[in-house]
Amino acid sequence: MSQEFKHITVLLQEAVEALVQDKSGFYVDGTFGRGGHSSLVLEQLADDGVLMGIDKDPQAIAHAQERFGDESRFSIAHGSFAELESFVAARGMSGKVDGILLDLGVSSPQLDDASRGFSFMNDGPLDMRMDTSSGESAAEWIARAEESEIADVIYTYGEEKFSRRMAKAIVAKRAEEAITTTSQLSKIVAEANPAWEKGKNPATRAFQGIRIHINRELEDLESCLDQALEMLKVGGRLVVISFHSLEDRIVKRFIRKHVKGDEHLPRGIPFTNDMLEIRFKNVGKAVKASSAETEDNVRARSAVMRVAEKVA
Ligand SMILES: C[S@@+](CC[C@H](N)C(=O)[O-])C[C@H]1O[C@@H](n2cnc3c(N)ncnc32)[C@H](O)[C@@H]1O
Repeated sequence: MSQEFKHITVLLQEAVEALVQDKSGFYVDGTFGRGGHSSLVLEQLADDGVLMGIDKDPQAIAHAQERFGDESRFSIAHGSFAELESFVAARGMSGKVDGILLDLGVSSPQLDDASRGFSFMNDGPLDMRMDTSSGESAAEWIARAEESEIADVIYTYGEEKFSRRMAKAIVAKRAEEAITTTSQLSKIVAEANPAWEKGKNPATRAFQGIRIHINRELEDLESCLDQALEMLKVGGRLVVISFHSLEDRIVKRFIRKHVKGDEHLPRGIPFTNDMLEIRFKNVGKAVKASSAETEDNVRARSAVMRVAEKVA
């Protein structure tokens, strides 16, 4: 029997409270995971409320079917939230969605299950795909990518200043043997890291960078945000929880752009929101997890939640 890995949901009450404004509405949980947020959304919804879950990970989909298979208000779609528009259109709800939630990044089951290949702590096949049914694994990419591409990925998405040394070491090693496991990769990048930081695994940033690249995490996020704005109804809400600055920067800029509207129009002249193309208003400030939550769950320490409401 496969081991059951748990996920502790971050900002559970805060996110659902911000999301659900109409108990009979249509909601999307774009990152179903293990259904922590979805479960509370369903508790809040009336009999005629509807929730659609989305996840890239076939294991998350299997979990959703097992857990909510009998729940008539719920459905699950396998794929990326970058396909939001087509999933929503298929349900005839384009421009009518009451709320969209994204709780970004990887789930604890993905990280903790060594066989998924995300972790530098546990040895496993070097996979790192959230969607194990398609795309290239980290091992396949590392076997074929140019040294400069590997360096760029580790630098840009891992924010690792020793990216060039690491890429060089990877390319030198792969000429000797195939790099197919997480322990091989973590050893190579750790040895190429000349400045180990206290309390931080020297492979942390390189693994983050490669994972973000393999799963197209930032591209999918940018694409989803544009679609989310169009899929929401006026008054509908976008709730996004980010776990690192690269994600949060994209979310923050996206919301700001649509809160401020067209910045090229001269200020001081009374344009209407329509003319300024103002589409969102902020709902509160960025929210961080309480100290009680971060004490129980270290993952929550880096979480930032932003909420915006569509105004036009
Ligand atoms: C942090 S977990 C979500 C946990 C969930 N909120 C809960 O409480 O159980 C993120 C989930 O989003 C999924 N995911 C990440 N990026 C995705 C994308 N572009 N499209 C669909 N699912 C994605 C991952 O597979 C993972 O299951």
